[in-house]
Amino acid sequence: MPSSLNFTSLVRLFVGILLCVPYQCLECPFGCECFSATRTVKCASKDLLTVPQSAPGYARTVIITGTNIQQIASKSFTEMENVTNIILSNNGITELASHSFSALINLRFLDLSGNRLALIHPEALSIPGSPLQELNLSRSLYNFTALTDLTTALRWGGLGGLLRLDLSGNSLTLLPPGMFSHLPNLQHLYLTNNSLVSVYSGTFSGMNHLELLDLKQNFFKIFRAEALQELEKLRKGHIRLGNNPYTCSCEIRNFLTWLNESRALLDEDAVRCASPTELTNARLRGLSVQAIGCVVPVLPGQADVADLSLQTSYVFLGLVLGFVGMVFLFVLYLNRKGMKKWINEMRDACRDVMEGYHYRYEIDSDPRLGHMSVDKSGSRAQAHLRMAPSQQLPNDTCIVQVPVDT
Ligand SMILES: *[C@@H]1O[C@H](CO)[C@@H](O)[C@H](O)[C@H]1NC(C)=O
Ligand SMILES: *[C@@H]1O[C@H](CO)[C@@H](O)[C@H](O)[C@H]1NC(C)=O
Ligand SMILES: *[C@@H]1O[C@H](CO)[C@@H](O)[C@H](O)[C@H]1NC(C)=O
Ligand SMILES: *[C@@H]1O[C@H](CO)[C@@H](O)[C@H](O)[C@H]1NC(C)=O
Ligand SMILES: *[C@@H]1O[C@H](CO)[C@@H](O)[C@H](O)[C@H]1NC(C)=O
Repeated sequence: MPSSLNFTSLVRLFVGILLCVPYQCLECPFGCECFSATRTVKCASKDLLTVPQSAPGYARTVIITGTNIQQIASKSFTEMENVTNIILSNNGITELASHSFSALINLRFLDLSGNRLALIHPEALSIPGSPLQELNLSRSLYNFTALTDLTTALRWGGLGGLLRLDLSGNSLTLLPPGMFSHLPNLQHLYLTNNSLVSVYSGTFSGMNHLELLDLKQNFFKIFRAEALQELEKLRKGHIRLGNNPYTCSCEIRNFLTWLNESRALLDEDAVRCASPTELTNARLRGLSVQAIGCVVPVLPGQADVADLSLQTSYVFLGLVLGFVGMVFLFVLYLNRKGMKKWINEMRDACRDVMEGYHYRYEIDSDPRLGHMSVDKSGSRAQAHLRMAPSQQLPNDTCIVQVPVDT
C-alpha cells in the first residue's frame, strides 16, 4: 500500500472490507470499485498513479478514468488475461511503453481517448495473437511526433485483426502515405474533426475491407482528381464528407460530377459550399456546372467537355502552324547566303530573258529585217502589241518594264 494513502481512502477501504463479500473485496484493486454483476472494475481515483496489476477473475471490463496515471509501463495488466475491454480515457497519459498491453491476450476493445500521448513505443500495441478489434485514439495525440510514432506502432503492432480505428479530434493536418496499410481488415476509420486539407494517392492503400470512412469536420475545400481516385478505391464502402469548407468555383467540377454519380456518400445533405458568398450553404450535390461559374456551353445540353476539347484542338493547331512557320523562317535565315545567290541568279535569268526579248523586239521593229507590214503610224508599241500573243512569256517569268528608247 502506498504511504501517501490519505484518511478518506483509509476509511473507504475499511468500510469496504466491512460491507463487501470478503473474497470480492480483497481482490478488488486499490482505488477501484468492482461490480461482479456487470463483470466490471472501475477505477477513478486521483490517487491512482499506476494501472492495477490484477482484477477479480470475473472481470471482463476495466475502466480507468480521471486518474493521474501518466505512463502505461511495459507489461502492465499481467493478471488480467480474461479482460476483453480496457477503457483508459481522460487520464493525461503521455507515454505508452513497449508491449504495454501484451499480457491482455483476450483484449478486443481498447479506448485511449482524451489523453496526451507524446511518446508511443513502436511495439506499444503488440499483443500476441492480434486479438484487438477496436482502438479509440480520439483526442489523444499530443502533437505531430505522436502521429509518426503511432504510424510506426500501427505498422509494428501486428494489428491484423483491427476492425475499427478512431483518430478523430487530433488536429491532424496530413496523413503519412500508407499509414493504414498494415491494417488489412479495417472496416471503420474515423478521421472526423481534424485539420485535413488533402487526400493524396496512397493515403488509403492496403485497406480492402473498409466499410466506413469518416472525413467530416475537416478543412477540405476541394477534392482533386488524385483524391477522388483514392476515394474511388473504397467503392464498396461508405463515406462521410460533410461539414467541410468547400469552395464552389469551377475548379470543383470533377468533385461535383463524382458527387452526382457516387452512391458511397452517406451525408450528402451536410456537403455544402462555404464560399463564394452567393453560394454559401448551398448543397453541392445537384449544382450545375454553370452555377459554379464554369463557361456555359454554346448549345444548351451539349456536353461542354466536347466544347472544351474543340477549343484545345484549335489552340493546338495554331501552335503547330506557328511552330512550322518558325522553322521555315529559321531555315531561310540559316540559308541566307544561298538565298541571296539564288535571288541574284533569278535576277540575272530575268535580265537575260528580258534582254533576249528586247533584242527580238528591236529586230521585229527593224523595217529592213521585218517580215510584217508596218504602216506609217506603226509605232514600236503597236508592234509590241501585235507581237505579244505569239511571244507570251511563261507565267513564272518576271515582268520587267522594258525601257522604251526614243
Ligand atoms: C481466466 O479464466 C479462466 C477460465 O475461466 C480461469 O481459469 C483463470 O483463472 C482466469 N484468469 C484470471 C487471471 O482470473
Ligand atoms: C471514441 O471515444 C470518444 C470519446 O470517448 C467517443 O466520443 C467516440 O464515440 C469513440 N469512438 C467510437 C468509434 O466509438
Ligand atoms: C511533441 O512533444 C514532445 C514532448 O513534449 C516533444 O519532445 C516533441 O519535440 C514535440 N514534437 C513536435 C513536432 O512539436
Ligand atoms: C474537435 O476536436 C477538438 C480537439 O482537437 C475538441 O476540443 C472538440 O471538442 C472536438 N469537437 C467536436 C465537435 O467533437
Ligand atoms: C448534377 O445533377 C444535376 C441534376 O441531377 C444536374 O443539373 C447537374 O448539371 C449535374 N452536375 C454535374 C456537374 O454533372
